[in-house]
Amino acid sequence: MTSAPGELFELELFGEGIERRYRKMRPEVAAMPWGTMSLEGISQAALVRARARWTSAAFQEHRTGIACAATLRLLYECRAPVDLIALASRFPLDEVVHVELCARMAMELGGGTEIRHDPDAMIVDPARDLSPLMRAADAIVRFFCVGEAVSIPLLRGAWHAARHPLPRAVLGRIVRDEAAHGTFGFAFLDWALPRLPADDVAGVCATYPSAHGGGCSCSAASDRFGPWETVVAAALLVVALARRRHRRRAGGNCNYVLRFTTEMRGRDRNSFRRPSAGM
Ligand SMILES: [Fe+2]
Ligand SMILES: [Fe+2]
Repeated sequence: MTSAPGELFELELFGEGIERRYRKMRPEVAAMPWGTMSLEGISQAALVRARARWTSAAFQEHRTGIACAATLRLLYECRAPVDLIALASRFPLDEVVHVELCARMAMELGGGTEIRHDPDAMIVDPARDLSPLMRAADAIVRFFCVGEAVSIPLLRGAWHAARHPLPRAVLGRIVRDEAAHGTFGFAFLDWALPRLPADDVAGVCATYPSAHGGGCSCSAASDRFGPWETVVAAALLVVALARRRHRRRAGGNCNYVLRFTTEMRGRDRNSFRRPSAGM
């Protein structure tokens, strides 16, 4: 008898001091009302479906964690603003928390179901021949502007529909974290778009369905993405451009970032302080 292809998706905790430090970083995980769900009256078929859904959600969060970690590297490589990198550095931890929450939900319902996967094919990396800034833009549009942004309303809907305190707490935590993930891509574009040639900006949308096989690694929604994701990505880029133009006119964030960069390059290289409002 031959075993199924791919590696089994299994999780473990190291325990002891390492786990204690992790719990201290994210105390809300242990504080959730674990062990309070009664499975009485739920059919076996419904239970198996629920276990499979939560296991799949844990796997998708795992993939999203890889995407967030890859994005962090790309942000460093393109020398993104330090505050933008700092914000994104929290995302891999958020995602590993989501992995644990979803996995523990599956365990509450009787245990995880079998998922086999190829660890070498979890995300689609940007082409290495792109510039560092284009690599970051390519990944962030796919992972954040599409993947994260599309998943938020789906998660929010599930959160509102949840009645039991446990799944409600789990989904509420995920929704709160994802809100920051969903807006991050547009903040990056506010900074990156003025630095990218127009042809390259068009390339962010035009190349990725064919080059990346239509796959986006983020969120539970990603497996359902088809060719329409190009349209969504294009629309999101148009919105980002419009937001940038609006902010420019209003003297908002985008100008602040540009001024800040100038200041760091010039007379106040080491201070990292905010420029005064009158600048
Ligand atoms: Fe997540
Ligand atoms: Fe996320």
